[in-house]
Amino acid sequence: MRAAVGDGPVVITGAGGTIGTAFAVTFGALGLPLVLGDYDDMGLAVTGAQAMAAGASQVRTVQGDAADPEVAEILVDACADLGGPSVAIFNAGICVPGLTWEQPLELWQRQVDVDYWGPVHGVRAMVPAMLERGAGHVFAVSSGAGLVAPPGMGAYVSSKHAVVGLMESLHHELARLGSPVRASVVCPGNVFTNIADNSLLSLNIDPEDFELDGVAAEVDAASRAGVDAGAPAQTVADAVVEAVLDGRFWVLPQPELALGALDRYQRLADGRPPADLL
Ligand SMILES: NC(=O)c1ccc[n+]([C@@H]2O[C@H](COP(=O)([O-])OP(=O)(O)OC[C@H]3O[C@@H](n4cnc5c(N)ncnc54)[C@H](O)[C@@H]3O)[C@@H](O)[C@H]2O)c1
Repeated sequence: MRAAVGDGPVVITGAGGTIGTAFAVTFGALGLPLVLGDYDDMGLAVTGAQAMAAGASQVRTVQGDAADPEVAEILVDACADLGGPSVAIFNAGICVPGLTWEQPLELWQRQVDVDYWGPVHGVRAMVPAMLERGAGHVFAVSSGAGLVAPPGMGAYVSSKHAVVGLMESLHHELARLGSPVRASVVCPGNVFTNIADNSLLSLNIDPEDFELDGVAAEVDAASRAGVDAGAPAQTVADAVVEAVLDGRFWVLPQPELALGALDRYQRLADGRPPADLL
């Protein structure tokens, strides 16, 4: 690990959540320092304690909104006296179901702010610091919904697609520079977490009061059932550690997800309509 990226801190946004905790504990167990971000200070404290118990050399926490560019700067500043960031994982995310034309605009915009602009701010803050130290690896957590487009979550799907494009473009830029700094995109399939209710709570919506009907309710139920039957978060953390070591761009913790993407492009080439995978 140290040979690949040095021994600076690992920055993780959304660290108070389920996948964020798996990242923190897994990188902590490697004895690295961690800089953890989330707007949920309780979640941050719990994750920080777990990461210290796992072996992290130290943990710093930054409570703030991943959609705020200043918070991204605070996260990078928190790494400065530790040699600058070695790894940064833009993991904070929310997903609120609803049909594309029905979902209230403020819910649309908030998802784009967190799920798309969050990684943009992260890249813009972390990459210059990594270029300066001549090492580092940035990861953005997209989704299988960044490779195929299920219904009933248009804001999430379009943000996660944009994140794939962002990281691919960044990958080419770094390669053209001949820089050792790497960029990767992580596309998990379903992972067992509480993202559906957490996302509503983050918007001050009580999940009990959030009502959908018709097609929106159908696809929400299918999506929740998929997440409930999803892989353990550790699968995602293990795939990212492996990607730091082998420098791979595409990180698919559930490799079978590539089949859906291949089918999508085959349909594109054949002129057939896309498949509804939900
Ligand atoms: N669970 C899945 O099936 C799944 C699948 C693919 C991708 N993902 C992605 O994985 C990432 C982590 O999700 P999770 O499933 O662990 O959910 P989670 O709800 O357990 O964790 C998300 C964390 O992000 C934090 N967060 C949300 N918005 C934030 C903001 N604006 N600023 C700071 N922190 C914020 C939350 O407080 C929470 O701690 C997300 O980007 C999600 O889109 C999840």
